[in-house]
Amino acid sequence: MSFNPELCRNESEVESKLIVHYLLPKLGYSPDTWHQEVKFGKIRLDFLAFTQKLPFKSDAKSSVGLVIEAKNPRKNLDKHVYQLRNYLTSLNISYGLLTNGKELRIYYQAAGVIQLLFRCMGRDIDDRLADIIKIIGRDFIKERLQPQLSLSQTASIPTTAPSSKVSSMKTIAIYHNKGGVGKTTVSTNLAAAFSKKGYRVLLIDIDAQSNSTFATGLIKFQFEEEDDIRDRNIYHAIASSDTNFIHEIVRQSSYFNDPEIDVVPAHIDLIKYQEILTTKMSSRNRLLAKLKRVENSYDLVIIDTPPSRDIYAEAALITADYLIIPSDLKPFANQ
Ligand SMILES: Nc1ncnc2c1ncn2[C@@H]1O[C@H](COP(=O)(O)OP(=O)(O)O)[C@@H](O)[C@H]1O
Ligand SMILES: [Mg+2]
Repeated sequence: MSFNPELCRNESEVESKLIVHYLLPKLGYSPDTWHQEVKFGKIRLDFLAFTQKLPFKSDAKSSVGLVIEAKNPRKNLDKHVYQLRNYLTSLNISYGLLTNGKELRIYYQAAGVIQLLFRCMGRDIDDRLADIIKIIGRDFIKERLQPQLSLSQTASIPTTAPSSKVSSMKTIAIYHNKGGVGKTTVSTNLAAAFSKKGYRVLLIDIDAQSNSTFATGLIKFQFEEEDDIRDRNIYHAIASSDTNFIHEIVRQSSYFNDPEIDVVPAHIDLIKYQEILTTKMSSRNRLLAKLKRVENSYDLVIIDTPPSRDIYAEAALITADYLIIPSDLKPFANQ
């Protein structure tokens, strides 16, 4: 039986056609190992699947496998990651699947931090099923969640990176302190091309001009009051000492690429905050530290930088493993 996302037109069709009739059986969860609409106080899970046929205890990690949250196909999954994290953290459950039928994501939670382990479009679920089973199939989770496993062992779960190596994430800064030399053009096209090759790509815009943010379709508002980027952008990643940030501020590109890519947007306010950040040494290293927390979620991180050597450029250069310097052949650029 194959899965057709066109058949899921609302949340209950996602629940029945994708989760109950397709995913749960393929993942090895027989009807006696999962429950729908499970309540714990204020928490209401759409689905809870067990690795063992035991009564559920919220602190017994070994008997629980997976929380599944289904959303309406019109809803943006980004807006529900926070909720899933709360569920997984409160109930101490490691694996969460979030889907609206059009897109499917798998997250892993440990110590209150969640990582995106896998993502694919609804139409690719059939093709990627073997990968999905390896991460959240009942037998696979059971094996990994043996009580004797230490946290460090459970953290090295297999991911579906094309390279199949864990933590092989590479960060590339596209930098030149001259403007108009093609930094944004290289960043956005490179990100799109890598993504089309099957790599999990994160594009970070750290330039106040926000050209990459615009190019990837994230600046949809016309008026300032509708600006939804001002409160969640790269500045917040650098300013906050909270290490668990990337999943909170990342967005999916819109009408940019197929498949869409993850983008951390920039904002014109970066100029305003520059002075505050410059006085703190910690600002320069924070991006590096925070990207470490998502190193199993991405194969490539591409950073589009400003045309200067300000605090933002420094943060990008400190963070990067590799540097690409685009230039044109005009005298000033070469100088
Ligand atoms: N390889 C190229 N050849 C010709 N024009 C280019 C090339 N790459 C970029 N451009 C053009 O140069 C201009 C500046 O590019 P952009 O990527 O915005 O530079 P930067 O980010 O360095 O300011 C844009 O109009 C872009 O379309
Ligand atoms: Mg640019």
